Amino acid sequence: MSLLDKHVVIEKNATLMLVGSLLVVTIGGIVEIAPLFYLENTIEKVEGMRPYSPLELAGRDIYVREGCYVCHSQMIRPFRDEVERYGHYSLAAESMYDHPFQWGSKRTGPDLARVGDRYSNEWHVQHLTDPRSVVPESIMPRYGFLKNNKIDPHSITTHLAANAAVGVPYTKEMIDAAAADLSAQATPDANTADLEKRYPKAKLGDFDGNPQAVTEMDALVAYLQMLGTLVDFSTYDEAKSAR
Ligand code: HEC
Repeated sequence: MSLLDKHVVIEKNATLMLVGSLLVVTIGGIVEIAPLFYLENTIEKVEGMRPYSPLELAGRDIYVREGCYVCHSQMIRPFRDEVERYGHYSLAAESMYDHPFQWGSKRTGPDLARVGDRYSNEWHVQHLTDPRSVVPESIMPRYGFLKNNKIDPHSITTHLAANAAVGVPYTKEMIDAAAADLSAQATPDANTADLEKRYPKAKLGDFDGNPQAVTEMDALVAYLQMLGTLVDFSTYDEAKSAR
């Protein structure tokens, strides 16, 4: 009896066929899934990463609300053309505190993963208010209304708590101080010593050109200005973090 003839036995018996199929799928499943249980972490530890400051988190919420991700990605892929244009390719750790992540799959506009520090605050406000005034061929919508929307600092406390609930390492101290930290980051000459300890490298000051109020424009620009600036790639050691 050849092998094919033996197979006929299985093909003619539905129960045997079912048992056989289950056996094959089970073995395949174990081979694919079991190694994941022995993997301690798929995200490398990278120095410099910290949770978003309350003002940055508020800005991020606005970024999501306004659908910026519809036209902008936040993931630089490890290809030469991308790295030359946008900078070091994105690390998994750089979006570890993102709920939900903003990798995106559409680039009507450029990738924003490392847009922080690339332009001045004034440029961002001007560009968001009237994109065509700085980039004549731009098709980006205007977002000038963000300057008129004041932020209630207390509204951010529950956002930090919600992020903490899904694993972002916000401490009780950070959550308790969230409202004060949000105001302090966007207020010139505020006492920011504690804020800077909690959120190293946080950008400080007036972002939207109106020092009197903390607006959604302040928050969004604070968020854009920190994107991609937390990890210091001049000292980043790829081999070390892979270990
Ligand atoms: C309809 C698509 C679209 C949407 C929605 C959109 N943008 Fe853009 N954006 C663009 C395009 C196109 C450019 C490139 C031309 C320019 O600089 O205006 C751009 C450029 C930018 C730049 C400059 C990037 C660089 O490296 O030069 C920033 C920053 C930016 N957008 C932020 C935002 C933010 C924040 C939002 C949401 C509030 C947003 N965009 C929504 C299309 C869009």
